[in-house]
Amino acid sequence: MNIIFLGPPGAGKGTQAQMICDALQIPQISTGDILRRAMKDGTETGLKAKSYIDAGKLVPDEVIIDIVKERLAMDDCKGGYILDGFPRTVPQAEALETFASIDSVIELDVADQVLVDRLSGRRVCLKCGATYHVSMLNGKTTCDKCGEELIQRNDDKAETVLNRLKVYHEQTAPLTGFYEKKGLLHKVAGDQGIEGTFQAIMKTLGAKA
Ligand code: AP5
Ligand code: MG
Ligand code: ZN
Repeated sequence: MNIIFLGPPGAGKGTQAQMICDALQIPQISTGDILRRAMKDGTETGLKAKSYIDAGKLVPDEVIIDIVKERLAMDDCKGGYILDGFPRTVPQAEALETFASIDSVIELDVADQVLVDRLSGRRVCLKCGATYHVSMLNGKTTCDKCGEELIQRNDDKAETVLNRLKVYHEQTAPLTGFYEKKGLLHKVAGDQGIEGTFQAIMKTLGAKA
């Protein structure tokens, strides 16, 4: 199954994509994770992306579309995948149609006030992509899955978060209508706890945990 996760920053796309991908044994393609790894490694793409990401703006379409096209051509995507954070603009969605066939779009729905609190307490592992919230770490500073030191994302600072929300409402929210017209859109409440949201998505996908 080829699946897209839509939703504002902090809605739980990464958290849920990782759980659903484990359950369905398919890869999680997170454009945010790919760009953060590129920044950490100091690649050309990483250097290009940094100023946009740190300001909470979207990286230009032509940069991100080629990255996703190349990634989806890899062997591990043949049995399905979850796109987490792509597409994010109508031109990206139109480009995607030229090289992929999407079966389902899950939109995680969460109110803006909740998102700000989630993002300010988020800690992430840059090595394996795992995501945590300080409220569940009990003072622990390393990743449960791989032992790496956890970090706070640069773009999780309050002012950048507000800009990311604005960019989401202006540039990404129109994708809801784009996929609704195609009959692919499924809205799932993203404020029912991590496990409850996971069960709701699995049910929507018609998958068994
Ligand atoms: P990206 O990394 O994709 O960030 P985002 O879309 O802003 O989304 P987040 O990763 O912040 O949130 P999430 O929905 O994954 O939430 P999470 O699961 O972590 O993109 C970053 C930047 O890269 C962009 O701003 C842009 O510059 C660039 N970029 C990426 N893709 C691009 C594209 N296609 N085009 C152009 N530019 C692009 O959860 C958040 C927190 O909440 C965590 O602490 C988690 O533990 C907690 N939580 C999750 N679920 C629940 C729950 N149910 N209950 C309680 N807490 C929860
Ligand atoms: Mg994410
Ligand atoms: Zn890790």
